[in-house]
Amino acid sequence: MRTESEQTIHLKDYAPTPYRIVSVDLDFRILEENTRVRAQLTIEPREGTAPGTALVLDGDELKLDSIAIDGAPLALAAYLADADSLTVVEPPLRRFVLDTEVTLLPASNTKLMGLYRSSGTWCTQCEPEGFRRITYYLDRPDILAPFTVRMTAPVALAPVLLANGNPIERGDAGDGMHYAVWHDPFPKPAYLFALVAGDLGSINDHFTTMSGRRIDLAIYATHGKEGECHYAMDSLKRSMAWDERRFGREYDLDIFNIVAVSDFNFGAMENKGLNIFNDRLVFAKPETATDANYHGIERVIAHEYFHNWTGNRITCRDWFQLCLKEGLTVYRDQEFTSDERSRPVQRIHDVQNLRTSQFPEDGGPLAHPPRPDQYREINNFYTTTIYEKGAEIVRMLATLLGEAGFRKGMDLYFERHDGEATTIEAFIKVFEDASGTDLSQFITWYLQAGTPQVSVSDHYDEASQTYSLTLTQKVDPTPGQTEKQPLLIPVRFGLIGPNGSPMGWSGVTGGSVRDDLIILDAPSMTLTFSGVANRPVPSLFREFSAPVKVSTGLTQDDLLFLARHDSDPFNRWDALQTVSTTLIAEAAQGRRWAEADADALRQALIDTLNNPDLDHAFKALAIAMPSEPVVGRHIGKDVDPDAVARARHDLLTTLIGPIVEQLERHYDALTVPEPYSPDAAQAGRRSLRNGLLSLLTAGSDRGAALAAAQYSAAANMTDRYAAMAISAHYWTDQAQALLGDFRTSFAGDPLVFDKWLTASAQAPDDGIIERMRAILAAPDFPRTNPNRLRSLLGAFVMSNPVQFARKDGAGFRFVTEAVAEIDKVNPQVASRILTGFRILPTLEAARRDTGKAALEALKSQHQLSRNVGEILDRILAG
Ligand code: TRP
Ligand code: ZN
Repeated sequence: MRTESEQTIHLKDYAPTPYRIVSVDLDFRILEENTRVRAQLTIEPREGTAPGTALVLDGDELKLDSIAIDGAPLALAAYLADADSLTVVEPPLRRFVLDTEVTLLPASNTKLMGLYRSSGTWCTQCEPEGFRRITYYLDRPDILAPFTVRMTAPVALAPVLLANGNPIERGDAGDGMHYAVWHDPFPKPAYLFALVAGDLGSINDHFTTMSGRRIDLAIYATHGKEGECHYAMDSLKRSMAWDERRFGREYDLDIFNIVAVSDFNFGAMENKGLNIFNDRLVFAKPETATDANYHGIERVIAHEYFHNWTGNRITCRDWFQLCLKEGLTVYRDQEFTSDERSRPVQRIHDVQNLRTSQFPEDGGPLAHPPRPDQYREINNFYTTTIYEKGAEIVRMLATLLGEAGFRKGMDLYFERHDGEATTIEAFIKVFEDASGTDLSQFITWYLQAGTPQVSVSDHYDEASQTYSLTLTQKVDPTPGQTEKQPLLIPVRFGLIGPNGSPMGWSGVTGGSVRDDLIILDAPSMTLTFSGVANRPVPSLFREFSAPVKVSTGLTQDDLLFLARHDSDPFNRWDALQTVSTTLIAEAAQGRRWAEADADALRQALIDTLNNPDLDHAFKALAIAMPSEPVVGRHIGKDVDPDAVARARHDLLTTLIGPIVEQLERHYDALTVPEPYSPDAAQAGRRSLRNGLLSLLTAGSDRGAALAAAQYSAAANMTDRYAAMAISAHYWTDQAQALLGDFRTSFAGDPLVFDKWLTASAQAPDDGIIERMRAILAAPDFPRTNPNRLRSLLGAFVMSNPVQFARKDGAGFRFVTEAVAEIDKVNPQVASRILTGFRILPTLEAARRDTGKAALEALKSQHQLSRNVGEILDRILAG
C-alpha cells in the first residue's frame, strides 16, 4: 500500500515566503465539545513580490468556517481551502489583516500535535509543524511575529488560562465562562506558540536576575502533585543562575511558567515563557522516582530553559538547521550538569549514551548528517544525531578554541543574531570572526554522516629517543553519501611513562600539536616526538575529545596500565570498557579469552573498587560490564545475540566467581544512610551498590537472593527499582514474584507503572512475547499514552536483542503488529519504536531475513503514516 505522501523536502529549495506575518491575534473559545479559533493575521508582501502572487498558508486536518480580509468576507473564487492549505488567490499588495475561523476537536486529537486534551487539560504542542493544526498559517520557523492571545473557557473546567509572554488582562465572560489575554512581545516562530487551559495546582517562587529584575516562576500540575514539583523548581533556579554565570544570559520576560502534562510526545518543549513538560520530567519524590529520574529532571529543565536564548531569541531559518538549536542546547545542558555534579562522571554518561544510541544510528540505515539536506517527515529528524552528535560538534569547537575563545564566539553569536532565524553557516562564522580561525574544514562535521574511524599505530625508537604516532581517519559510506571528506578532528592526548607519570618531549614534527591537542585534519598523519626517554603508552582522545571510534592496537596490558595510571578519568573508564567489550565480543565469535586476561581484568576491577581516591559514581561506571547491544555493535555484523548474551554471562561468571565474598563485603558496606537525598554523592553511592548487585546477580548464585532482599527492604525507588530490574534482566527465580509485587504495590501511579513496563521488557525468557501481548491487550491499558507505549516497546526494541531479534521472528512480528496499531493513533510514537529495526544489518543472515519479512508485511498490509512509511523505507533500503 502507498504511504500518506512520499514527497521529499530539500534544503536546496529554501526560499523566503513572498509574504510575511507582521503580528498575530488569536482568539480561542474553548468549550467541552470543541474549540473555535479565530486568527487575525497582519500580513504584508515582501519587497519584490509581484502583484497576483498567491498567499499559501499551511493547514493540517483543518476546516475553514469563515474568511475575511480587512473585515470584508472573501468571495468563493478568491480563495481555496482544504484540510492542508489555504490559498488566497490574489491578496492586496499592501499590509492587510487576514481573518479566519476554524473549529477544532482537541479531545480526539490523539497525535498530540496542535491543540489536544491530556487528562482534561487543554494544551498545545507546535514544534515542528503543529501550529498548522490550530490555524492556517505560514508554519515555518523563519516567520517571526509578536502574538496576542485571548482565551475564553468555562471557569469550572479551566480556572487556569496560560499562554506565552505576559498576562495583560483577565475577567468574567458570563455564562460560567472567563477569559484571559496574554501578550508576547518577542517576535517568535509559530512552533514556539503555546497555551494551557485547565484545572491545575501550582507551586510558585521567584528568581532575581543579575540586573536585579524579579522573575515570577510557577510550575503547574494536576492537583495533588504540587509537592512533587520542588526538585524541578530548584533545577530551574539553578539553571537561570548558571546561564548568567557561564554565558552572561539573562531571562527576558517577567514570568516563566512550566506545565506538567501526562500525554506528551517528547520530553519537553521550550515554548516562549511557557515550557510544557512530559510529567515524568517534572514529578519526583523518593518513593516513586529514581536517582536517574532526578538527574533527568535537572537536565531537561535546564535544557528547555537554555533554549530561551539558543532556540527562541535565536531560532532556525528552516528545519534543516535543527541542530543549530538542539546540538548547542544539549551542549549547554551537559555543561550545566557537569558544573553542578561531577564533570568526569557526566562525560562518561554522555559518551555512553552517544555510543549506545547515536553510533548505531550513524552506522546503520538511518544515518544522516547533523544537518540533513532532505527529509520526508521532519518529525523523524529529532534524532540522537541532531541532538547528541550536534552537542559533540559544539564541544569540539570549544576544545579547538579554548574556553575563552569559545565564549567570545558565543557572545558574538548572541550579539549578531539576536531576533533572527539563522543557519549553521552563520553559527560557524561567528567563531571564525571572533577567533580569526578558518573553520571551513570543521563545518564538514555538520554535513557528513557516519562515525569516523581513527586507527592509531605507534613506534618507539630507543636509539634516537623518538616516538612516532600515526593517525589515520576514514568514514564508511552512509545512505546517499558514498564519498567522504577528511574531518578536522581534535585529539586531546598525553604520553605516559613506564612509572605511570606524564612524559614530556622536546620537539614534534609532522603535524600540528598544541599543548595537549593534536589537530588531525588529513586522511593520515605521522607525528614524531623527539626527546622521549622511554617507550610511552599514549592516552588518546582524552575526555572523548571527538565523536569517533578509535582502534589503537594497544594491548590489554597497555589498556589496563591506562586504567590504572591515566590522569584522565574518562580514558581510565574507557580502557576498562574496551578490555571487557573486546573479551566478550571475541568469545561471542568463538575465540575464548586466555585465563590470564580474565585474571588481569578482575584484578583491575578490584583495584578500582579499592582505590580510595575515586568517587563512588565513577567506580560504578568503571566496574559495569558493557551491555549486550554495545557488544553487538562492537562486533558490527553477523551478530548472534544469543552468543553475545552467553559470552557476556560467561565473562561475568569467570570474573566474579573468585571474588564473590569481596564484592559482597563492598555491597554490604555501601548502605546509604537515610533520609534520602538525590544529591550526586548519595546517588553515586547507591549506583555503586546497585552496580555490585548487578555483577553479583549476573555472575554468581548469591545475587538473586540479595536482590530479592534489597527489593523488600528498599526505602526508596532507586534501590527498589534496581533490585527488580536486575532480577528481571537476569531472570532470577524471584523475578516474576518481584514484578508481580511491584505491579500491585504501585497500581495507581502511571509513572511507576512505566518502570514496571520497562523492567518487564528486559526479561530474556521466551515467555516474554506472550506476556507483552497480554499487557497491551488488557482493556485498561492506556494505549494513547506515549510514555506507556515507549516504556514497554521502546525498551524492548532497544535493550532486549535476545528476544527482539529472536530467530523465529516472533519478537520482530510482535513489534511490527504493535506499530501498525499505534500508527493509527500516534504516528510519531509508532515511527520512533520502529527505528529499533535499524539493528537489522548487524544481525546474522537468518535473523536479518525474518526482520525484513516482518517489515515487508507491515508495509504491504497497512495504510501507513508518512512518519512510519519513511522510517520503514529507509531501513529496507539500507
Ligand atoms: N524542542 C524540544 C526539545 O528539544 C523537543 C521537541 C521536538 C518536541 N518536537 C517535539 C517536544 C514534539 C514535544 C513534541 O526540548
Ligand atoms: Zn531541545
